[in-house]
Amino acid sequence: MKDNFGRNINYLRLSITDRCNLRCHYCMPATGVEPQHHEDILSYGEMLRIVAAASTLGIRKVRVTGGEPLVRKGVIGFLEQLAALEGIEEIALTTNGILLADYARALSSAGVKRLNISLDSLNPVTFKEITRGGDLMRVMDGIDKAEQVGMKIKLNMVAMHGVNDHELLDFAALSIDKPWSVRYIEYMPTIREEQWQQRIISGADILDLLNSHFQLEHLTTDHFCGPARPYRIAGAAGTLGIITPMSEHFCGSCNRIRVTSMGQAKSCLMSNEAVELRPLLGVRQQNELIDTLKKVICGKPEHHRLGTDPDSTTPFSMASIGG
Ligand code: 5AD
Ligand code: SF4
Repeated sequence: MKDNFGRNINYLRLSITDRCNLRCHYCMPATGVEPQHHEDILSYGEMLRIVAAASTLGIRKVRVTGGEPLVRKGVIGFLEQLAALEGIEEIALTTNGILLADYARALSSAGVKRLNISLDSLNPVTFKEITRGGDLMRVMDGIDKAEQVGMKIKLNMVAMHGVNDHELLDFAALSIDKPWSVRYIEYMPTIREEQWQQRIISGADILDLLNSHFQLEHLTTDHFCGPARPYRIAGAAGTLGIITPMSEHFCGSCNRIRVTSMGQAKSCLMSNEAVELRPLLGVRQQNELIDTLKKVICGKPEHHRLGTDPDSTTPFSMASIGG
């Protein structure tokens, strides 16, 4: 359905757990975030009820996120049920790739055609530092397996000054031989880690750097690009994208709502407002649930102010809301 600003909301991002097997320093404090109690996390049945209600309002695509979605038990069975819901045409998953080698085949059979893999460094030492302990080889192995079973792959790289900015071109070069979509994401001060101001690299600077080394073709945005501005290195198998939540918000074309693992619906990642869906998950409450989701969609703000006024957003971890 259309929201109050004429945007067609057809995409739901569903976080199925706030737990994660990594601790990326821009996402979580070193101590991690206090995990929610199991009983506070929605059951798969409850999540399916929410998605079914959302599909009656025109939600067609669901992206399953976390935390790290593959750490939740039973995720494959859940994805199969999700894919079988009437009206849901596309299931995608965002993962850090640590468990991907074990799950790629099952994910593909369950109906997941598209994977977003968060990968911020191609150097094992830097990767370990950013993620506070992650093993890059496992992720690379996971990507291989996902490719072997024919999944479409997007790599998401959060660009950070002094951390991985020397790897921006290496990431771009991956798209020459591989049919992947490599996307650079502007660092967002979601948890306000120390010195976050120094970390930010603007999308414009990334583009300048790419332009100075490669011959880039500007691609037209199709509906699969989401918020990324798409490019291709001339003759490359894959594409490049730059996602600029900070310097140039893309709220005007935002087509999504979010549901957290605790059952809070959010119409905007950056908004402090959340609507509790848990009281509406009884078997006979489907109409109430649909009405509430409708209100969430209608209440979607026109745009966020993270770029101009970060203090308008309370610090949060992406792991709790879903990236
Ligand atoms: N800034 C930019 N991207 C972030 N992500 C998580 N936290 C941040 C942040 N503070 C990204 C992850 C992943 C996606 C789900 O969100 O790296 O690619
Ligand atoms: Fe985990 Fe993703 Fe957060 Fe890293 S960014 S700690 S992989 S949820």
